[in-house]
Amino acid sequence: MKHPFMARVAIALAATTLLAGAASAQEKSSTQAIEEYREMLQDGNPADLFEAKGEDLWKQKRGPKNASLERCDLGKGAGVVKGACVELPRFFADTGKVQDLESRLVTCMSTLQGIDPKAVINGDWGKGERANTTALATWIASQSKDMKFNLPQSNAQERTAYEVGKRLFYQRGGSHDFACASCHGEEGKRIRLQDLPDLRKNPGDGIGFAAWPAYRVSNGQMWTMQHRLNDCYRQQRFPEPTFASDATIALGVFLGVNAKGAKSAVPTIKR
Ligand code: HEC
Repeated sequence: MKHPFMARVAIALAATTLLAGAASAQEKSSTQAIEEYREMLQDGNPADLFEAKGEDLWKQKRGPKNASLERCDLGKGAGVVKGACVELPRFFADTGKVQDLESRLVTCMSTLQGIDPKAVINGDWGKGERANTTALATWIASQSKDMKFNLPQSNAQERTAYEVGKRLFYQRGGSHDFACASCHGEEGKRIRLQDLPDLRKNPGDGIGFAAWPAYRVSNGQMWTMQHRLNDCYRQQRFPEPTFASDATIALGVFLGVNAKGAKSAVPTIKR
């Protein structure tokens, strides 16, 4: 292994694998070891590379209209990036819709740059315009690091989205009759070595909604909240939701409003 970061990850992973066997006997020390493993990862977070790419994409003149995104309104006025992420998803008057960070970026890329939304919506994770959206979301979200989540709920559509998201969270179905709530609706749950945050309330600073976009060590990719939700629907054995669909945005509103007061830790690093 040439890369020092990957070598460190390999050592950390080996350490946690060993500890997994002793987890039941030594619950406390294994929890501590996981914490140490997370700390080790934190000081070489490759998310920095995605952040830099995102900042570059924001300022670059691109697309058929050869324009940058610097006039994009993320909810706090044209071009305001700082603090935008901790108030999303929110209602936008120009589209008449509640939008999350990713869907709002698709709107700006389309209106300002002339980039076809289908390039993102029908694209693949980690490729082309969808990968560009991930990098942009990473940089934008990083500009709200340590700020507290405070989603607006003054608009009727925002309140409706919350109620829809709540229903989706508790909606059971599929081959295992799972809902989000089956895995995230109780305190102190864990699958193997992964903590399952209780997403019915604020799970704490930098946890749950306040942790994404995050760099996933397990597959070497940067994941946005849309990607996280998509994969949790897979874990739930549900069909893959459409990128930035109303359903995933509504779930985002539910999780985001519940996370009120949690400090964003983006970009984080996850296993
Ligand atoms: C079968 C169990 C299961 C179901 C059902 C499930 N998830 Fe997850 N969820 C997980 C696992 C496992 C993780 C990863 C935890 C980790 O890697 O630390 C996770 C992580 C998350 C996270 C990130 C937590 C963090 O702090 O980083 C969010 C947010 C989330 N899920 C939301 C949802 C939503 C919304 C649904 C319903 C659409 C859902 N999940 C359904 C198992 C599940």
